[in-house]
Amino acid sequence: MTYSVAVSGASGYAGGEILRLLAAHPDIEIRTVTAHSSAGQPLSAHQPHLRSLAHLELQPTTPEILAGHDIVFLALPHGQSGQYTDALDDTPLVIDAGADHRLTSQDAWDAFYGGSFHEPWTYGVPELLVGDGRKQRENLRDARRVAAPGCNASTVSLSLVPGVAAGVIDPSDIVSVLAVGPSGAGKSLKTHLLGSEILGTANPYAVGGTHRHIPEIQQALIDASGTSTGSGAQKVGISFTPVIVPMARGILATSTARIAEGVTDAEIRDAWQSAYGDETFVQLLPEGSFPRTADVLGANTALMGLAIDRAAGRVTVVTAVDNLVKGTAGAAIQSMNLALGLPEDRALTMNGVAP
Ligand SMILES: NC(=O)c1ccc[n+]([C@@H]2O[C@H](COP(=O)([O-])OP(=O)(O)OC[C@H]3O[C@@H](n4cnc5c(N)ncnc54)[C@H](OP(=O)(O)O)[C@@H]3O)[C@@H](O)[C@H]2O)c1
Repeated sequence: MTYSVAVSGASGYAGGEILRLLAAHPDIEIRTVTAHSSAGQPLSAHQPHLRSLAHLELQPTTPEILAGHDIVFLALPHGQSGQYTDALDDTPLVIDAGADHRLTSQDAWDAFYGGSFHEPWTYGVPELLVGDGRKQRENLRDARRVAAPGCNASTVSLSLVPGVAAGVIDPSDIVSVLAVGPSGAGKSLKTHLLGSEILGTANPYAVGGTHRHIPEIQQALIDASGTSTGSGAQKVGISFTPVIVPMARGILATSTARIAEGVTDAEIRDAWQSAYGDETFVQLLPEGSFPRTADVLGANTALMGLAIDRAAGRVTVVTAVDNLVKGTAGAAIQSMNLALGLPEDRALTMNGVAP
């Protein structure tokens, strides 16, 4: 069976990467691409690297144009998806790359985003432990509505969830500092992302607990602890600081957490090894090895290194992802494969592009 697909936000970075991956998917026919200010222009004017799709024209993003497909991807600025999702009731599978359906807490949405709160959808990170030893992929099988993750959020959550689920780290004392490429902030014109503002410099932003991905990480870590409801809900305290560095794509997240009392080094390493030992797209490197962003460019892989710093009493996890692949489009397509009952890795690669 071939599934017809519409991709909105097709002139942007996330939409472009969804299209690049879907173009290599044997079960997918990309029928419709839509945009906003670029509607009416050829897709190739905005995505000149997508040669096999150069015949497509960007249409306006309206409920009528998105309706009538088997699958719709929404890759719009946050706050814009809700108006379309309500009108796509008859669409068998809708996958939102934006934040609108990621959070389960309206309080968290109000505090970090504002505007209308929309119902949470199935979170699109299959490898996440979600309590009782279960993984999120079980929830994604047969899902009809999927919220693809925030790129920074899923990188940090994947880094720390094994330690929280196994009880070997203290979730109330986490520090994450991320080097991030500017494509994570989208393609639209922003002065602080001009070449002259980011080349040759590292620029911190959203310092001091204001970044919108913080509640998404807290949500994943609380789920992993298996105490997501009631007064037993574990407190997750995370200090999160992203720093824009001059690389188009990529995230290198360095996360540290206090080691729980009485836990051995072997138990710590085993928590991550047993969580990811059988995974294709989340890989723990051998002891003493740490990833570079260059190792995952173009790949649907989260590559992870783990150190146990006994002098500081902390575990350090360094994780590299391509924000546009494992951080967005790859996660969306991996989730789509699960929802459709297809092999989970179809059209996805664990190999990066080098140099
Ligand atoms: N970039 C990443 O690494 C990343 C990672 C994870 C998640 N995401 C999420 O993916 C979504 C898209 O991000 P992006 O980085 O691709 O942004 P982007 O490059 O700025 O692209 C935004 C897209 O949305 C369209 N658009 C803008 N306003 C619209 C509106 N009012 N109605 C309909 N379409 C509209 C734009 O069309 P025109 O160009 O024609 O105006 C463009 O196609 C965001 O919600 C973001 O949080 C992005």
